[in-house]
Parts: sequence; structure tokens; C-alpha cells
Amino acid sequence: MSIAKPIPQHVAIIMDGNGRWAEQRGKERSEGHVAGVASIRASIRAAQRNGVRYVTFYAFSTENWGRPAAEVEALMELLCYSVINETPDLQRQGVRVRVIGERARFSEKVQGFLNRIEADTAAGETLTMVLALNYSSRDELRRAVQRLAREAAAGTLRPDEITEARIAAALDTADMPDPDLVIRTSGEQRLSNFLLWQSAYAEFYFPEVLWPDFTEEEFDRALEVYARRDRRFGRLK
Ligand code: IPE
Ligand code: IPE
Ligand code: MG
Repeated sequence: MSIAKPIPQHVAIIMDGNGRWAEQRGKERSEGHVAGVASIRASIRAAQRNGVRYVTFYAFSTENWGRPAAEVEALMELLCYSVINETPDLQRQGVRVRVIGERARFSEKVQGFLNRIEADTAAGETLTMVLALNYSSRDELRRAVQRLAREAAAGTLRPDEITEARIAAALDTADMPDPDLVIRTSGEQRLSNFLLWQSAYAEFYFPEVLWPDFTEEEFDRALEVYARRDRRFGRLK
């Protein structure tokens, strides 16, 4: 008798190690970010092949503004370039792109590209690719709390109506399932302010591989590790 392997509905990835990958090769850090785009493509392909419905990529944290201006600038350029370059393939593959994070902090140009890729891929039905940009979990919670507080102050929300579901609905991830599996590459074992609320019952996987070396096979391996985990959600077997 064969038992179907459990497939995560939502995989969230902290893409880490681009800088170290570049430094190991005597290249600029930004070249590591460029190389990392191929790993995003590979992850999308592997996710589709395995029937994963949501893949979230942590691409730029609110804390990443603290990096040298030249690196931030290179990341913004890469973002705009990739949006133009990847949109036709994403459309062909039926991938819908959604952005989470506070986009008001980006330049008008970058915001325009983000709005465009969301609009251009809105009809995609096979997989949702979530890009976390100028995202951090605490900032997302701050914005959600402000929203709920404004409703309370306006008299349209009673404090006892603030349920877990209401909080979840005020987050950027409102209509998405929680991540089942969180992957962080490069051997670091921390969340760095990523999906803290949503990952309450996620499984975690920390491969040593640096993000630009993360291939389709690496994604498959992560799913194999996930399939062996025993998720109990606080209950007994
Ligand atoms: C992750 O790689 C990409 C971003 C944070 C944008 P890093 O740039 O953090 O690479 P390391 O951790 O310095 O190697
Ligand atoms: C987390 O990686 C953010 C992204 C992958 C976008 P960082 O490299 O910025 O995190 P820390 O500084 O090592 O915690
Ligand atoms: Mg890093």
C-alpha cells in the first residue's frame, strides 16, 4: 500500500547567503544577488512540479535598508530588471505574483514595477509567488494593529471582536494559508523577523547550501525532509 507523501501547501523561503557566495568567488556581493535569481526560478519550477500552491520569498527586509547604499541600489535595480524579464515566463507558467511588506517606502519607479507584475500575473492559477519586500513581521503587525485601532476608534470594531481570525485578516498575508515549511539557506538558524505570526506551527529546515546554489533538487530534498516530519499541532498522535 502506498501512502501519499504530504506536500506542503505553502513553502516560505529565507534566501540567505548571496553575499558569502559572491565573496567566496572574489566577486561583488551584488553578483551573488544576481546569481540568486536562478534559484528563485528553480524553486518555482520545483514547487509547481510537486503541487505546492504558495511559495514566499523573503527578498528584502525592513532591516536591509541598513546595508550600504550601493548594495540597496543594486538590489532595487535587480528587482526592476527581474520583474520585466521574468513576467512572460511567470504568465506562461500560470504563476500569480503577490507582494507583501510596506511598499510606500520604495521609489515611485519600484512601486510601479510591483503594481505592474501583480496586475500582469493576476490571472495565474497554478501557484502564488509571494514576494516579501520591505517586509518584517513586527512592522506588518504594527500596521495591522494600527488598522484595527483606527476601526475601534471610529466605533466600527468592538475590542472583543478582535479575534485571532480578525488579526490574521489585518496582516499582509490575509487570504493566504500559513506556511507549512520555512526554509532558510546558508546554515543560519534564525527567522530575522520573517512571518512570526504565520509560522506558529510551521516546520523549519536549515540547509547549509548558500542561496545561489539552491537547485530544484535542493527544493525536492526539503520536501522529503518535510514529509518525514510529524506535525502534531499540540495534540497527541
Ligand atoms: C540574502 O543574502 C539576500 C538578501 C538579504 C537580500 P545576503 O546578502 O544576506 O548574503 P550573506 O548572508 O551576506 O551571505
Ligand atoms: C534575512 O537575511 C532577510 C532576507 C533574506 C531578505 P539577512 O541576511 O538580512 O538576515 P540577518 O541579518 O543575517 O539576520
Ligand atoms: Mg544574510
